[in-house]
Amino acid sequence: MTACQTASKETIESGPCGTAAKEITYPADVKPIIRQHCISCHADYIFYDSLNADINSGEFYKRVVVKRDMPPSGGLDTCDYIILKRWIYNGHYSN
Ligand code: HEC
Repeated sequence: MTACQTASKETIESGPCGTAAKEITYPADVKPIIRQHCISCHADYIFYDSLNADINSGEFYKRVVVKRDMPPSGGLDTCDYIILKRWIYNGHYSN
């Protein structure tokens, strides 16, 4: 937990996980994470607009990044968090 908190700031800007040299994109990086970890329960997240609505409301960030109670059984690794945070930070575009 401490390591995650210390890592979070610099990794948004210039992270490991092969993300430093390229922009995070929704189709290539984010969608596979959502498919694997979320749509079994949140079927509507298959649609970018549904996912984006929860990001705009702040619910996504609150539950996934701050409280970390989504997905309920865990399963996101450090790189998944970095990718999701960086995508949101960069404006969470659909392309
Ligand atoms: C095992 C089923 C399950 C999985 C997997 C799951 N969720 Fe959820 N999620 C729920 C349930 C049930 C609720 C409503 C109850 C609550 O708020 O705790 C919920 C609520 C939420 C909310 C609050 C807003 C809303 O839609 O009610 C967000 C945001 C959210 N989930 C995001 C995610 C994300 C992102 C993932 C994948 C990283 C994920 N969840 C994976 C079951 C799940």
